[in-house]
Amino acid sequence: MEQQLTGEFLHVVEQAAIACARSIGHGDRKHSDQLAVEAMRKAMDEIQMDGTIVIGEGERDEAPMLYVGEKLGRGAGCPAIDIAVDPLEGTNLCATGSANAIAVLAASTKGGLLHAPDLYMEKLVVGPQAKGKVSLDAEVGENLQEIAKSLNRKVADLTVVVLERPRHEKLIGDIRKAGARIQLIGDGDLSAAISAAVSGTGVHAVMGIGGAPEGVLSAAALKCLNGEIQGRLLTDSNTASRDKAEKMGVNFDRIYFTEDLAPGHQIIFAACGVTSGNLLNGVRSFGDGIRTSSLILNFNPRRVRFIDTVHVTSGDKVTVRF
Ligand code: FBP
Repeated sequence: MEQQLTGEFLHVVEQAAIACARSIGHGDRKHSDQLAVEAMRKAMDEIQMDGTIVIGEGERDEAPMLYVGEKLGRGAGCPAIDIAVDPLEGTNLCATGSANAIAVLAASTKGGLLHAPDLYMEKLVVGPQAKGKVSLDAEVGENLQEIAKSLNRKVADLTVVVLERPRHEKLIGDIRKAGARIQLIGDGDLSAAISAAVSGTGVHAVMGIGGAPEGVLSAAALKCLNGEIQGRLLTDSNTASRDKAEKMGVNFDRIYFTEDLAPGHQIIFAACGVTSGNLLNGVRSFGDGIRTSSLILNFNPRRVRFIDTVHVTSGDKVTVRF
């Protein structure tokens, strides 16, 4: 699976990023998302796989494409693959031209990615050093002490990324009380989760409540990067959505670890920058082409690739710039 599909999935996220990058700063998040979805869907069709969307743009009746259960690829006779997509993670970031919007997907052999419902998830994300030393059940201050110890630095020298939302008022207070620094972000806790597992990004942890689908995609990336996510699914006031989630096998009382969210033995994770951010450059256009910056992760065999691609648009006299 790895050899066959890695290049194909790189192409898919590149196409999604290029398509929605044309709308950066246009102020229309839905349109940006639609551009990414259409481009991703089109690119998927060409792949030699019997693919099934397990995390996508919604249910069949609410999303015209990339809906949960949709079959993708050439189909019969090809390898069966489960796919989680977020064609544009950070729709607002793209619409406002802010940092860290990315086009993302994760793929695994059948059953390798949790079919998480579209609910919220309480998350705790750390890099390899603090893996196994923190707990979603522990006090925020205790976790920060453990992260600091594992990184051989003071709590005051840690930066925790938190989504800027009213629901995080207490969490923000607890982190400040413990003495750590906070980077409040408008959107994009998936991109922050990847950064927490990559040394040198200046992100040491991600805490707080974000989307469960983004939690599964984060787990796929963190598994490949040796990091850790712990997540607890949160029910909303809607009993129908709770019943539906329970029918899907969701347990609201337990902590889901990286391995529970992304149990696959073979995982491919692909992300392409739409706007520039901590890890990836955004899509840049120049006279003769388009340049993209992507991250491709494989779990088996373990590989981390940062890929800089120049998409040469046309002609045999085109100059590629360094
Ligand atoms: P979109 O790309 O769908 O706009 O989601 C971005 C995001 O910020 C995620 O990164 C995060 O997990 C989730 O939304 C948080 O949800 P909410 O905006 O409802 O707090």
